[in-house]
Amino acid sequence: MRVTEFSEPLIGELTQIEAEAFGDGGLNRWTFPVLIRHGAVYVLKCDGKICGIADIIKDWVDPGLAFLVNFVIRKGERNKGLGTIFLEKLIAILKDDGIKRLQLTVDPANKQAVRVYKKLGFKLITELSDEYGPGVDRFLYELELEE
Ligand SMILES: CC(C)(COP(=O)(O)OP(=O)(O)OC[C@H]1O[C@@H](n2cnc3c(N)ncnc32)[C@H](O)[C@@H]1OP(=O)(O)O)[C@@H](O)C(=O)NCCC(=O)NCCS
Repeated sequence: MRVTEFSEPLIGELTQIEAEAFGDGGLNRWTFPVLIRHGAVYVLKCDGKICGIADIIKDWVDPGLAFLVNFVIRKGERNKGLGTIFLEKLIAILKDDGIKRLQLTVDPANKQAVRVYKKLGFKLITELSDEYGPGVDRFLYELELEE
């Protein structure tokens, strides 16, 4: 479900899930409103509670390219197949939206995330050295979305 309206409690809940997963690298009260209004923030709900968040932007130069800024399943709900299901749903939505390629970056040590991306057909494009500061490298992955 795409988030189109927001309130203080919703932003608080989203920020808490991000902080739990990414520390100060997560989206927060300043960045969520911008992404909700001008990018796309999707949530996965489990028993009425938010259990997954995906934040997506479209590329400025290439309108066929989307970038997955953040992707998270709430602690305690991971490793149950939810991340795979959520990303599959997002891929279908992006295809319908005319997106041709989806890119993301991931910590090379994040085996669980890499497993999900590879399983869904993402291909490693390159390693971005020092992407998030000295010694903080990222793998750049891409999925081609077929017609
Ligand atoms: C990455 C993330 C979104 C995946 O969601 P999830 O619900 O846990 O994913 P799934 O349960 O669908 O799949 C996890 C897969 O990783 C595998 N896995 C788990 N731990 C693993 C490990 N240490 N090494 C290799 N594979 C592992 C599981 O076996 C499963 O693969 P399978 O379906 O082939 O058995 C979630 O774990 C998460 O939020 N992590 C913290 C935030 C994060 O790192 N986000 C990604 C940023 S790029």
